[in-house]
Amino acid sequence: MTNTSFGVDVGGSGVKGGVVDLDTGELVGDRIKILTPQPATPDAIAATVLEIVRQARWDGPVGITLPSVVTEGIVRTAANIDHAWIGTDAKALFGTILGGRDVAILNDADAAGKAEDRYGAGKDFEGVVILLTFGTGIGSAIIHNGDLVPNTEFGHLEVRGKEAEHRASSGARQAKGWGYKRWAKEVSLVLETYEALLWPDLFIAGGGISRKHEKWIPHLTNRTKVVPAQLFNTAGIVGGAMAAAEAAARRA
Ligand code: BGC
Repeated sequence: MTNTSFGVDVGGSGVKGGVVDLDTGELVGDRIKILTPQPATPDAIAATVLEIVRQARWDGPVGITLPSVVTEGIVRTAANIDHAWIGTDAKALFGTILGGRDVAILNDADAAGKAEDRYGAGKDFEGVVILLTFGTGIGSAIIHNGDLVPNTEFGHLEVRGKEAEHRASSGARQAKGWGYKRWAKEVSLVLETYEALLWPDLFIAGGGISRKHEKWIPHLTNRTKVVPAQLFNTAGIVGGAMAAAEAAARRA
């Protein structure tokens, strides 16, 4: 039997899910995507996740990512999602709607970090890896030899008087109308600040803009090597599936 699990990545525009082969980090079958309901309240998202799991005919554990700090299954922040999420017991909400099976809830960038570290750009790398997702905000994950420290929020670190994600997210680039070279200056400044505080051995750049890495990574001037993410639009799903399998194993 294959070693499979299921992940759902809740994003601002789409909710995406799929069955993941944990031996390879690849999706088995289709990636199912449903547009994020608006407003993206906890109940509306829970119904969407249920629909994805149903469409996939999946009856095992499910890992769900949110763009939020999540501790003990409870959502603590909502920087770029509906504020109704704050204080929501997401583990209870999804666990109930999915019929009492094992669920794991984790931060979206933490999920991507886990996936890239095991199967993608950080595979076999020894040392401290920081994965950053450049999207509407900046998500972060810090991993040391496979171990994640969850819920880092480096996108909100103040860099020269401004939150890093307001300075250097992909959203900030669009808002300012900057080209890649100009934007890379802001990213370099943010990465230099992280380097000074955390001394990583490798940065992995994720998020949609990592697909265009050749346009901006060469312009970065920070010290530490920066490599593009490899899993692209499946990293959140894969990391969610990893977390679900870990949760089920802990319970067994
Ligand atoms: C949130 C993080 C999230 C990141 C990427 C930030 O604004 O605070 O929790 O990981 O956006 O979605």
